[in-house]
Amino acid sequence: MRVLLAGGAGYIGAHTALALIEHGHEVLVVDDFSNSCIDSIQRVEALSGATVTVIENDLSNLEASRVALAGHDFDAVIHLAGLKAVGESTEQPIRYYRTNIDSTLNLLEIMRERAVTKLVFSSSATVYGTPELLPLREDHPVGNNITNPYGWSKAMNEQIIRDVQAAWPELGAVLLRYFNPVGAHPSGQIGEDPSGVPSNLMPYVAQVAIGRRERLSVFGNDYPTDDGTGVRDYIHVMDLAEGHVAALEHLRDGVTAYNLGTGRGSSVLDLVSAFEQAVGIAIPYEIVAARAGDVAEAVADPSLAHAELGWTATRSLADACRDSWAWQSSNPNGYGA
Ligand code: UD1
Repeated sequence: MRVLLAGGAGYIGAHTALALIEHGHEVLVVDDFSNSCIDSIQRVEALSGATVTVIENDLSNLEASRVALAGHDFDAVIHLAGLKAVGESTEQPIRYYRTNIDSTLNLLEIMRERAVTKLVFSSSATVYGTPELLPLREDHPVGNNITNPYGWSKAMNEQIIRDVQAAWPELGAVLLRYFNPVGAHPSGQIGEDPSGVPSNLMPYVAQVAIGRRERLSVFGNDYPTDDGTGVRDYIHVMDLAEGHVAALEHLRDGVTAYNLGTGRGSSVLDLVSAFEQAVGIAIPYEIVAARAGDVAEAVADPSLAHAELGWTATRSLADACRDSWAWQSSNPNGYGA
């Protein structure tokens, strides 16, 4: 298939581009490079030997997007274009809603105009809000106590896609609810390159290991979990990338949501010790106050994706730590450094 990968130069986008190419698909990236750079795609090309067409365009501008995409044909869209920093979203809600909602509306409008009927959307386990029952299944209610505009933008996008599909039955869409993506391609050539101080755990740990940060702050140790620290379902980004390929290749009529997770929960301290063991570097940490908006535990039931997409996460947390380190140690300051 010829796949339009919206937001394809970002962390998940670059890994997904590589997985698509490895499965014989053609990739066309559209990205505004507001939080990414062309180097990631150049490295995907070097790793795969394939050529990736890149269009620089802001998808939240409908007219510009129509023009930018006019000369390009594609059979499906994987939509990963969006802003994703939770804290920033509470400070800049208008920017977050404009970017994350308008880009989806515009992509859907252009898809409809051009009769492109396959969509895979990058959603998040954050749409479940505070989990009522673990592990999380796709039929868990959405929108229960979401604490920030970023999270709401994901839940709203899911609803927009459902409403558009109801009015346009030819559209087949998949909502991929990511748990916590970590790791990198094992080559260490592509990886997560956060701007400023990382807000997510794994890149922070990797920056402590390389000496860019002194110590990790562990956000709270009195959650009702085994060691008191927050528990998450960390999924290797290459497993996540392959989940997009499986979703695309098994796309059915209507709208279907799938969890992309491993089904295994790890605490903050589990991740720290997995990293220390995999990499052989001690990670100093201190316990600080819990972060507002964090839940105690979020773990996927990934069985639906297994049953319907034939997809399962195969890589371990140790693999993810090793690969994060391969990326961090060979690119201490990220891309372009
Ligand atoms: C966060 C977002 C989520 C988003 C996801 C991917 C929040 C509340 N949730 O998920 O909406 O989809 O990132 O970008 O921000 N931790 C520390 N110290 C740190 C960083 C994190 O102890 O410096 C802990 C957290 O408290 C949590 C775990 O590590 O228990 C994972 O945190 P993080 O990587 O930020 O992911 P989430 O909060 O699960």
